[in-house]
Formats: sequence, structure tokens, C-alpha cells
Amino acid sequence: MPDMRMLVTGGAGFIGSNFVHQTVRERPDVHITVLDALTYAGDERSLDPVDGQVVFAKGDIADPDIVDALVREVDLVVHFAAESHNDNSLHDPWPFLRTNVIGTYQILEAVRRYGVRLHHISTDEVYGDLELDDPAKFTPETPYNPSSPYSSTKASSDLLVRAWARSFGVQATISNCSNNYGPYQHVEKFIPRQVTNVIDGVRPKLYGTGENVRDWIHVEDHNSAVWTIIDKGRIGETYLIGADGEVDNKTVVETILEVMGQPKDAYDLVSDRPGHDLRYAIDSTKLREELGWTPRYRDFRSGLAATIDWYSANESWWRPRKEATEAKYTQLGR
Ligand code: NAD
Ligand code: DAU
Repeated sequence: MPDMRMLVTGGAGFIGSNFVHQTVRERPDVHITVLDALTYAGDERSLDPVDGQVVFAKGDIADPDIVDALVREVDLVVHFAAESHNDNSLHDPWPFLRTNVIGTYQILEAVRRYGVRLHHISTDEVYGDLELDDPAKFTPETPYNPSSPYSSTKASSDLLVRAWARSFGVQATISNCSNNYGPYQHVEKFIPRQVTNVIDGVRPKLYGTGENVRDWIHVEDHNSAVWTIIDKGRIGETYLIGADGEVDNKTVVETILEVMGQPKDAYDLVSDRPGHDLRYAIDSTKLREELGWTPRYRDFRSGLAATIDWYSANESWWRPRKEATEAKYTQLGR
């Protein structure tokens, strides 16, 4: 088999950089170019572990010229780039429309032009939310019902990919994954925010009552599933990625506090996120039975403890973004 040339969009973000690390480690036959705009969420230092082993291009996926020039040189595009934070989308939706919808359109037009394979990374949030006691989980057949500007733009991007696959024969697969945790996640997100707050002697902030449930998966497992889909997935199909990791937010905060040697109740309840989705839960049977994927990180508590250790040991990575992030939350009253 000849070597594969791959473009990774959003490869300086949380999940994209982990995908690049994993690929360099496990797939020496893959030549990687990263396209990333280095927005407030991107950090080139997240690629330090693979320094010299990948090509980095700073650029915007909504710019058709840079997208064209890079896509024409590769065999595969793995598309992670997005505006990814719900709270930001409630404050200013436009960057979400621009990157998630128009940016995905530009990627689709380029892969269509050159007959390049695409894997599109999406989220379980496109399905809306579930009641706490609903026995059903999200499946690939669940109707789309997004709640926030973020999730509605991700849903829009998925629908574009489906339409380009059907109408233009674009060779695409889609994955919708649940909440990721692990190293290199921006301090605006729930787990890194609380861990770095505790390091700073600040009490964690829990939205509303803390009863909301997320279905946690380690970022390494998300990306091993992405590779499984690239290797074995059927073109035109959607696969849901999840590791049966449902935990309510209050329990997550209590576990962080306990692991970090603090009293379990040393947190504050703050005002709720508008439209806050109650519960996400993934049924990943199709991915497991059809493609034979299984997660490796099965114990959330030990994965969380390792993540806490990473943030404790890598303060120089997150510290430059902490103050501005907390200033934004202060403005939101959270
Ligand atoms: P992130 O915010 O950490 O990273 C996004 C990256 O995209 C950043 O490096 C940023 O600079 C880059 N980017 C943003 N706009 C860009 C543009 N216009 N052009 C080029 N690059 C741009 O996000 P993440 O958490 O790593 O999420 C990555 C993908 O995974 C997203 O598509 C997201 O919807 C999806 N996803 C995330 C989760 C999760 O729990 N974080 C779960 C399921 C799916
Ligand atoms: O489900 C997948 C999605 O998971 C991804 O598509 C998104 O990109 C990713 O950001 C994440 O979305 P959430 O909104 O679930 O993640 P977030 O980390 O913002 O919040 C997780 C939960 O914690 C949510 O119920 C809100 C709550 N929360 C969040 C913060 C930042 C708090 O209680 N306190 C906080 O300080």
C-alpha cells in the first residue's frame, strides 16, 4: 500500500491534536498536514509532542483558496475544525455559522472537486437531549433536534455532508461522539475549568442544580473509533461513538474534589445555561458490532485522575488562557 496523505482540520485543538498524536504514534505510513486558524481555542503548542513530524498550515477553513490548495494534495481529510463551545455560541452565534457551516461547505466543495475521501467529526448534541429516566439512547436513526446555536450549526454541517454524499457522490463518513475528556482540553470546558479552579484555590462552578448528565469518553477512545471508521466504515454512513460513560455533573465535580483532596461539597451552584440540554446518552452498537470497535478507557474515575495529574503537571500549557476565560464567565455571571 502506498503511504497515505492526510489533511487534519482543527488539528491544534483538543481532539484534533490528540488525533494527530495518536496517528504519528501508530500510523507511520500517514503523512499529516494540519490546517488550523489558531483561534482562541487552538494552540500550536498542543502539537509539540509531534514537532517536526507533521506539516502545519495556519489558515481558515472558510477560505476557499487555502482549502483548495491543501485538499488537492491529499487522499483523506479528517475534519475536526469547529467553534465548539456552547456558552460562546449563546453569546455570539456568528463565528459558529461561519466556521461550522460555511467552513464545512468549503471543505465539501474541495473534496468533491478532487475526489478526496472525507471523515466529518460531529457531536451527539445534534440529537437534542433526553429525559433523565428515558430508557432510550441516541442511535443513528434518532431525529435531529439541536438546542443551541452550536449544536444547530453542527447539525447543519452534518446535513451538508449527507447531501454532498448523496447528490455528488462525495466519499464521506460521519461520526457523532459524546463528551470527551483528557489532556489538552481548553480551560473553558467543564472538567478543565473545575480542575484548574481547584488548583487556583477557587471553588468549582456547577450550572443550575448539577443534575445534567453527560456521556463521558476519553479522547483517545474517540480517536481510535475515528480510525476504525476510516479503516472499515461504509461510505455514506453515520456512526455514533460512545463508551457508556453517563455521569451527572454534580458527581463529576464531587469526584474532582475528592481526587484533589478537597471536601466533596466545596463547590458553588451558579445560574444555569439558557436552554441547557439535560442528558446525552449514546448507543454505539452499530460501531461496536459492525466495525468491531471497543473503548480502552472503561474506568472514568481513573481516567479523570490521570487528566487531573496532567493539568497539575502542565500549568504552563493552560495558564496563559485561564484569566481571560474566567473574565468571560464573570461577565456571564457564571
Ligand atoms: P476545540 O475548540 O478544542 O478545537 C477546535 C480547533 O479548530 C481549534 O484548534 C481552532 O483553532 C480550530 N478552528 C476553529 N475555527 C477554525 C477555522 N475557521 N478554520 C480553521 N481552524 C479553525 O474543539 P474540540 O473539542 O477539539 O472539538 C473538535 C471537533 O469535535 C469539533 O468538530 C466538535 O464539534 C467535535 N466534538 C467535540 C466533542 C467534545 O467533547 N469536545 C465531542 C464530540 C464532537
Ligand atoms: O456532547 C458533546 C459536546 O460536549 C461537544 O459537542 C462540545 O463541543 C463540547 O463542548 C461538549 O458540550 P457540553 O456543553 O456538554 O460541554 P461543557 O464542557 O461546556 O459542559 C459540560 C456540562 O457541564 C454541561 O452540562 C454544562 C456544565 N457546566 C459547564 C461549565 C463550563 C457546568 O456545570 N459548569 C461549568 O463551569
